[in-house]
Amino acid sequence: MITNSTTPTTGPSVVVLDTLAGYSAHLENERRTGRTVGVVLTMGALHRGHAALISRASSECEVVAVSIFVNPTQFAETADLTSYPRTLDADVDVATSAGASIVFAPAVTEMYPGWPVPSATTVSVRGLAERWEGLSRPGHFDGMATVVTKLLSASGRCRTYFGEKDFQQLAIVRSVVRDLSMPVDVVGCATVREPDGLALSSRNARLDPDQRAAALCLSRALRAGSSALAGGADRSGVEAAMVDVVAGEPQVTLDYAVLVDAATLEQADEAPSTGSLRLLIAATVARVRLIDNCDPLGPV
Ligand code: PAJ
Repeated sequence: MITNSTTPTTGPSVVVLDTLAGYSAHLENERRTGRTVGVVLTMGALHRGHAALISRASSECEVVAVSIFVNPTQFAETADLTSYPRTLDADVDVATSAGASIVFAPAVTEMYPGWPVPSATTVSVRGLAERWEGLSRPGHFDGMATVVTKLLSASGRCRTYFGEKDFQQLAIVRSVVRDLSMPVDVVGCATVREPDGLALSSRNARLDPDQRAAALCLSRALRAGSSALAGGADRSGVEAAMVDVVAGEPQVTLDYAVLVDAATLEQADEAPSTGSLRLLIAATVARVRLIDNCDPLGPV
C-alpha cells in the first residue's frame, strides 16, 4: 500500500500513498493512536496559497494529509485538463515543508475505476452550485463535489482546510459535508495574495507580464466595490463600481462582479441579520479564467 516512502535529507519524513484503501487505513491507524487528522485537498502545482492551508492544518492537527489529484471530471475542456501542471516531486517537498506527513496521489483509474466512462453516481448541489461559476462552467461543481466526497469519505473523521479564494467551492463543500452528515469540520482559510494584490493561483503562470498587470484589475475592482459600499452605495452602485474598474482594462473580459449574501451567494442589498456580505468577481484575461472575492468590510 505504501508505494513510496521518502525521507528527505533534511526535514521530516513523508509517506506517499496512491490507493484509496492504503490512504484510508493509514489515517485510521493514526486516529487509533489518538492523533487528530487534518486534510488538505489539492490538484497539485502547490504554491504559497496551498502551503498556507497545510501550515494552518499542521498548527491545529497532529497529522496532516495532502491529496494531489488533477480531477478530470471537473474540467470541461480537455485542453485545460491536459495543460494542468503536474509537478509531484516539487509538490511533495512543498507539502512536507509546510507540515504534511502524508501525501495521497492516486492515478485517475484509482479514483474512477471505469475511466473514461463516468461513474453512475455523482454528487450535485442544488442552488448554491447553480450560480456564478456554476453557470459559466457547467458540470464543474458536480465533478468537484463528487471527488471531494470521495476524498473526504476515504479520509474519515478529520478537519479539512479549504481556501476562501474559491469562495463558492468552499460554500458547496460546507453544504455537502452538512447534507451528507460527514464527520468532517470544514475550515475556511483567507486568500493568500501577491504583495500587489493578485490572488495566488496556479493559472497565474499562464499570464505574460502585460496580462498579469491587467489581471490586477480584479483585486482593484474588489477594493472599489468595498469603498463604494462603505460610502453608502446600494448593491447596483457597488457592482457598477467594480464593473467600471474592469472596463478600464481592454485585455480583460468580465463575467460577473456581484455583491452577494455570503451564505447563499444570492445577490443581496444588505447583510442578513446573522450573516455577512461578499463581493465575487470572475473575468477572463487572454483566455485564462480568473476569480477573486472579498469581505467588503475586510482588507483585500
Ligand atoms: P486547487 O485549485 O489545487 O486548490 C486546493 C485548495 O487550495 C482549495 O481549497 C483552494 O481554495 C486553495 N487555494 C488556492 N489558491 C489559494 C490562495 N491564493 N489562497 C488560499 N487558498 C488557496 O480547489 C481545488 O484544487 C479542487 O477543486 C479540489 C478541491 C482539490 C477538488 O478537486
